[in-house]
Amino acid sequence: MQPAGPVPSHRPTPRRSSPCPLRDRSGGGRRLWRQAGGSGSQVQWTTAERSGWPTGGAATPVVPVLLPLSPTGGSLPTLYPQDMLAVHFDKPGGPENLYLKEVAKPSPGEGEVLLKVVASALNRADLLQRQGGYAPPPGASSILGLEASGRVAELGPGCQGHWKIGDSAMALLPGGGQAQYVTIPEGLLIPIPEGLTLTQAAAIPEAWLTAFQLLYLLGNVQAGDTVLIHAGASGVGTAAIQLARLAGAIPLVTAGSLPKLQMAEKLGAAAGFNYKEEDFCEATLRFTKGAGVNLILDCIGGSYWEKNVNCLALDGRWLLYGLMGGDNVSGPLLSKLLFKRGSLITSLLRSRDKKYKEMLVKAFTEQILPHFSTEGPQRLLPVLDRVYPMTEIQKAHEHMESNKNLGKIVLELPQ
Ligand SMILES: NC(=O)c1ccc[n+]([C@@H]2O[C@H](COP(=O)([O-])OP(=O)(O)OC[C@H]3O[C@@H](n4cnc5c(N)ncnc54)[C@H](OP(=O)(O)O)[C@@H]3O)[C@@H](O)[C@H]2O)c1
Repeated sequence: MQPAGPVPSHRPTPRRSSPCPLRDRSGGGRRLWRQAGGSGSQVQWTTAERSGWPTGGAATPVVPVLLPLSPTGGSLPTLYPQDMLAVHFDKPGGPENLYLKEVAKPSPGEGEVLLKVVASALNRADLLQRQGGYAPPPGASSILGLEASGRVAELGPGCQGHWKIGDSAMALLPGGGQAQYVTIPEGLLIPIPEGLTLTQAAAIPEAWLTAFQLLYLLGNVQAGDTVLIHAGASGVGTAAIQLARLAGAIPLVTAGSLPKLQMAEKLGAAAGFNYKEEDFCEATLRFTKGAGVNLILDCIGGSYWEKNVNCLALDGRWLLYGLMGGDNVSGPLLSKLLFKRGSLITSLLRSRDKKYKEMLVKAFTEQILPHFSTEGPQRLLPVLDRVYPMTEIQKAHEHMESNKNLGKIVLELPQ
């Protein structure tokens, strides 16, 4: 890449010969600190904007600080052509452990492309990985980041010509998205829907492919189904509401605050329940006149198990894809589920193999992607909460960890 700023005076002189893809040169990389002051830009989302895109606000101008040269100002370092900046942590722990590190740029292997990343987005999995509780699948990059948008910078050997250098694309990743470059099998790239910026597109892959897979592939959602979506204002929740509507189903949500419920309603939820103030099971049974819901999209798990099974309809499908409420179940789950003839289906997308992900990406690209560009009430919207420069990665983690985001938190890479 082009030098991004003045050459720091302490630049090491010895050259490293061959770059080592996806492997940090521990101790060799320079450590960059986040910007002092400033914050991500909040994206306001109003009813008036329902017909348009939630606009990713311009990020606060960033003057990242290169330590230890300058504690108060400076610029991003000049990088060697085979290097890039990536989010890194040396030991598991809190957001304060995160920093930008100079690491080796990956090289595309057989059938892979190199994407120059413009934006990535944050996911709960990043928080868990940072805490030491969610290792990347075997063979995946240890750099955080399950999604990215950017431009094709290089084609590896054996690419089939579906993509050319300079094409814009977004991608679902098993890791590595929070870096200036990432490699990815060409079959996993997704075109950017017309009318979306790369920053907006970065909010799509992980949340929308997860919601699509849960509802359409695993849950077999049908027109007229009632669907209870927990964490309705989360990244996955905001996608699931819209995809349920697209299928002709009736989405209901739970969330922990009025603004979150109001946003869910704007996106198409037929009803929303504040789980902190009322019993969502009773409210759901009231709404469905005692019948219960046909599908539950559940990323909470343990703390919700009994209410979930109690408000599941006969022959209902309960899709468990997260455990934010713990994994402990104590009580007659099996008899209650059997009595409902219910199906408990679990899903983890990150560890799926390449073949499955290619199938998922193809189905999503064909069935769902056009709806991001089609004017009208069914138009799909990636919902962006805040856009942070990557130099503010610590703040982004703190924001998600405190459950403040409505929709996705997007991260912009230094170009
Ligand atoms: N299995 C998969 O393949 C897969 C893929 C993607 C995501 N996920 C999972 O999906 C979930 C949502 O991810 P995301 O990135 O969309 O999340 P997010 O945008 O960060 O939103 C999560 C929200 O969940 C709510 N929440 C947190 N802890 C809770 C608890 N104990 N009880 C009830 N509500 C709670 C909070 O909202 P309130 O203010 O409403 O409480 C929080 O803002 C996560 O569990 C994630 O790990 C799984």
